Amino acid sequence: MSKPEVDDVTGIDTTGHEWDGIKELDNPLPRWWLYIFYACIAFSVVYWVLMPAWPGITGHTPGLRGHSDRANVAAELEALKVQRGEGAARLTGATLEQIEADPDLQQYALAVGQSVFGDNCATCHGAGGAGAKGYPNLRDDIWLWGGSLADIHHTLQVGVRSGVEGTRFSLMPAFGRDGLMTSAQINDLTEFVVALSGREADRAAIQRAAPDFVAQCASCHGVDGKGDRAQGAPDLTDGEWLYGDSREEIRTQIWSGRNGVMPAWAGRFDPETLKALAVYVHANAGGE
Ligand code: HEC
Ligand code: HEC
Repeated sequence: MSKPEVDDVTGIDTTGHEWDGIKELDNPLPRWWLYIFYACIAFSVVYWVLMPAWPGITGHTPGLRGHSDRANVAAELEALKVQRGEGAARLTGATLEQIEADPDLQQYALAVGQSVFGDNCATCHGAGGAGAKGYPNLRDDIWLWGGSLADIHHTLQVGVRSGVEGTRFSLMPAFGRDGLMTSAQINDLTEFVVALSGREADRAAIQRAAPDFVAQCASCHGVDGKGDRAQGAPDLTDGEWLYGDSREEIRTQIWSGRNGVMPAWAGRFDPETLKALAVYVHANAGGE
C-alpha cells in the first residue's frame, strides 16, 4: 500500500490504494446522496421509537404510538358487527320459517343472501342462480336434493359429494367406462332415456333397454324415471337437463357418470349467513 497523494491529472486526493499502477481517487460522496442517507438514518431512529420495530425472543418492541394491525382489524370487525347488529342478531334467534314470515327480517336476509351469493355461488350457478351445464339452475322448481327451506339449508351446510362428513352423497356408476355395460346396451338406454322425456326414439332400442333400466337405473331414478331426492338422482321425465338434452350428453352421462361436486359451506360462513342464503335461494326459486 502506498501513501495518499494528490493525483496529477484531476488534482484530487487518492485513497492510497493502488493496483498495477491504477490509483483510487478519494472523491467525496455526492451531497444529495449523503443528505438522503442521513435523513434515512434519522427517519429509522424516529420509526424505532414510535412504531413496533425490533424483534425480541417473545415479541417485539411495541413503539410509543402503540400501533397494531391486528388490533385495527379486530376493531374494524367489531364495528362491522355493530353495524350489521340488529338484523344479524335477529337472524340468530329466528328459525328459517320465522325469517320468511317476517317481511322486515326476510328483506334483510334477502339482501345479505344476494350479496353473498354474488361473491361465492354465482361462479358456479351463474348470475342470479340461472345455472350452467353441470350446475343446477336454482331459479326453477326442479330440485335434485329437495327445495324446502330445510332441504336447501342442509344442502348448503354439507354440500354434495364435498368430502365432509354427512355430505349429501350418491354415485352414479360409470356404466361404460367401468365395463358394466356394452356400448350397444348404452346406446339402447340412451334411446330409452330420450323416450322418458317424451321425445321420439327408436322403439326397438327402447324395448331392448327396458329390462336394463329396471335392473340398473331404477334403484336411483325410479321405475318410472322420476328420480329420487334421497340420492340426488334427477327426474329423467321432466325435459329439464343438468348436463344437456342431446343424445350425446345423455350417452356420456351413462358412459361415465359425472357426479358433480358442491362445496360444503358450514365452516366458511357463520350460521346467520347460511340462513340468509337458504332464504334467498328459496325465495328466488319460488319456494317449495
Ligand atoms: C364449485 C362450484 C359450486 C359452488 C361455488 C356452489 N355450488 Fe351449489 N352446486 C354445485 C353443483 C355441481 C351442484 C349439483 C351437485 C349434484 O350433482 O347433485 C350444486 C347444488 C346446489 C344446490 C342443490 C340444488 C338441488 O337441485 O337440490 C343448492 C341449493 C346450491 N348448490 C346452492 C349453492 C349456494 C347457495 C352456493 C354459494 C354459497 C353454491 N351453491 C356454491 C356447484 C357449486
Ligand atoms: C346410484 C344412483 C344412480 C344410478 C344407479 C343411476 N343414476 Fe343416473 N344419475 C344419478 C345422479 C346422482 C345423477 C345426477 C348427478 C350427477 O351425476 O352429477 C344422475 C344423472 C343422470 C343423467 C343426467 C340427467 C340430467 O339431468 O342431465 C342421466 C341421463 C342418467 N343419470 C341416466 C341413468 C341411467 C340410464 C342409469 C342406468 C344405466 C342410471 N342413470 C343409473 C344417480 C344414479
